[in-house]
Amino acid sequence: MENMLHLAPSQALPMDRSIFLREQLPPAISAVDSLPVIDMSRSRDEVRRGILDAGVEFGFFMVVNHGIPEEVMRDMAEVCEEFFQLSAADKAYMYSEDRHKPNRMFSGATYETGGEKYWRDCLRLACPFPVGDGTRDWPHTPQRLRGVIEHFTTLTRGVGMELLQLLSEAMGIRPDYFEGDISSSDVVLNINHYPPCPNPEKTLGLPPHCDRNLITLLLPGSVYGLDVAYKGEWIKVEPMPGALVVNFGQQLEVVTNGLLKSIEHRVVTSSTLARTAVATFIMPTPDCLIGPAKEFVAEDRPPCYRTVRFRDFMRIYNVVKLGSSVNLTTDLKNVQKEI
Ligand code: OGA
Ligand code: NI
Repeated sequence: MENMLHLAPSQALPMDRSIFLREQLPPAISAVDSLPVIDMSRSRDEVRRGILDAGVEFGFFMVVNHGIPEEVMRDMAEVCEEFFQLSAADKAYMYSEDRHKPNRMFSGATYETGGEKYWRDCLRLACPFPVGDGTRDWPHTPQRLRGVIEHFTTLTRGVGMELLQLLSEAMGIRPDYFEGDISSSDVVLNINHYPPCPNPEKTLGLPPHCDRNLITLLLPGSVYGLDVAYKGEWIKVEPMPGALVVNFGQQLEVVTNGLLKSIEHRVVTSSTLARTAVATFIMPTPDCLIGPAKEFVAEDRPPCYRTVRFRDFMRIYNVVKLGSSVNLTTDLKNVQKEI
């Protein structure tokens, strides 16, 4: 618990050599200076085409006019910040280094990811649908936290499912293609808190990575921090009021046999500003068998990925050294061949 970055007195911050050396990475500059923005209030046909084009080109885009009321997004951002402002004593019960616990608070400064540590504290929660008593192990303060998070997650999951339906229509497959086991596990929330960092040149909040789930919706907060890989460079994602950032997880890449790609992203820190961002992950059930769907396989397009249970994918992927992704060459096809 004393390892949580946001609770440490600044002279005790773990700024040692095990923290990632950022100089090894290209800075965030790109000829393209922002992600495509999809206005979901446009005609269904326009939205369909917009997300497919943005998805194929970038694997990442922003959505506005998605139907989640402004106050729901604001309350979510506020309550998450309030949680991180609680005293250490008031949230110590949430702290755990057990990776198998679905609901816990932990810090990137305590464990190594591919031999490195990162400048992120995280409250991770699992949200079943229907919720039932699934929030039992969530924090009990701030008092409104459970209600606010449950409401936000329900609506955000709804936007994610709507986007999957629009994508299916755009790709010419059944509109309910992504319903069922492939999307119906508990939604996982990463409530990421990046405290100000004394030396942002030397650390990252999160290393370059691809999400392993089906699709992710990010409430990016009001402070810049997210970079998205694009043609060997990084696009800075400047926050846009009311927008959600959407990206494809690796399972969507596998199912579509590589038509849609899961793209690397990373988080940089700031020396002056704390940042809180919430990633909502729509997940397959552990038993779900995922491989290239027959609709995406043809004689001239053989399957590029193996078919594995999601549980096994998660286990196997964990042992692949993340370091290999730092040069923006994560290639799921090759990763799958090697293991
Ligand atoms: C993640 C992630 C981005 C952010 O949690 O997987 O990429 O801005 N988060 O916190
Ligand atoms: Ni991510």
